[in-house]
Amino acid sequence: MRIYLDNAATTPMREEVIEEMSRCMRELYGNPSSIHAEGRKVRAAIEEARKKVANAIGASIGEVFFTSGGTESNNMAIKCAVRDLGITRIISSPTEHHNVLHPLEIVEKQGVQVQMVEVDKWGRINYEHLEQLLRDNGGRKTMVSLMHANNEIGTVSDMARISQLCEQYGALYHSDTVQTIAHFPIDVSKTKVHFISGGAHKFHGPKGVGFIYINSESMIKPFIDGGSQERNMRGGTENVYGIIGMAKALELGIAEMESHREHIEGLRRYLIDELQKRYVDIQFNGDYAGDYLYTVLNVSFPPSKNSEMLLLHLDIAGISASGGSACSSGADAGSHVLKALGANPERKAIRFSFSFMNTKADIDFLLDKLDTLLEKRQAAPALG
Ligand SMILES: Cc1ncc(COP(=O)(O)O)c(C=O)c1O
Repeated sequence: MRIYLDNAATTPMREEVIEEMSRCMRELYGNPSSIHAEGRKVRAAIEEARKKVANAIGASIGEVFFTSGGTESNNMAIKCAVRDLGITRIISSPTEHHNVLHPLEIVEKQGVQVQMVEVDKWGRINYEHLEQLLRDNGGRKTMVSLMHANNEIGTVSDMARISQLCEQYGALYHSDTVQTIAHFPIDVSKTKVHFISGGAHKFHGPKGVGFIYINSESMIKPFIDGGSQERNMRGGTENVYGIIGMAKALELGIAEMESHREHIEGLRRYLIDELQKRYVDIQFNGDYAGDYLYTVLNVSFPPSKNSEMLLLHLDIAGISASGGSACSSGADAGSHVLKALGANPERKAIRFSFSFMNTKADIDFLLDKLDTLLEKRQAAPALG
């Protein structure tokens, strides 16, 4: 028996998505750029998928471009905003995913000023500091790049507030929304943003496909050259089945978002309560009771006999989760996110991340296994 609690890393594909993709693999084999009937049929399917993605985020069809995933989309937003839109300063945060931090290192070498906004010990952005940075722009054209929800600790940023600050100070706004697409309502027609990104495998779609939303006011030039696909924005024959699978997964995810959220919130709450009841000195990393991504719970275990190898023990016991610690020594680079929060490197951080496919029985299974690995809270002595 295996229990999968690593849904922030990737999610299992939904049956409906596999079915839709399989059907299209059989029926749609033309090249979407061909003008004959086979090609036109595939082109129509891609455009139908684009409409679904655009509808899901309140965008117009001309603002959605398919990519190979979140990493490509975020690279594209950052590098092309610098190359094509005259951005010379980017404000970001130390808790971003590496797919933002590494492109930032590249553009910094090209002369872009990169400034980091302060985050507190829960991973929350200091909005006063953000405003101060935006105000003191030194005449530089600025873009803010702040993720919607952190993939390791689940802390959520306030997109409306950041959007409003960016508007006020004339900055562009990019948000890595890979962890929140299909999990939180995102409407770019209400919250102004210039770039957001999505990756299908985070919402029960296929791997290797994603999208970028580009606000029509901030159109960039292609990131990949070589063909006129994606209305000249991305060369290369489209990942047709991936695109169709992603649109299906997103459509289902949006339609069922509220019921999934309720279900997952229940599991997460149950796990928090049980952990606190059973074990001494359990802590949580991130804004776990404030503005949090409900699919993620990052648990901080105190040092104990089994805590160092806890992830391995859990894997052997049939449970998949993810690790991380603030440690920065030697080969184990540790988590840059936990380090930025000033987390205690002696404690073991485990990220449990959920999907609608998990059940209470999964959490009970996890708790049973943890009981064999961790020191339990002493029962109160009987009275009398
Ligand atoms: C916050 C965040 N951004 C971007 C990515 C990368 O997305 P993809 O795997 O689609 O390239 C991930 C995936 O781990 C992520 O969690």
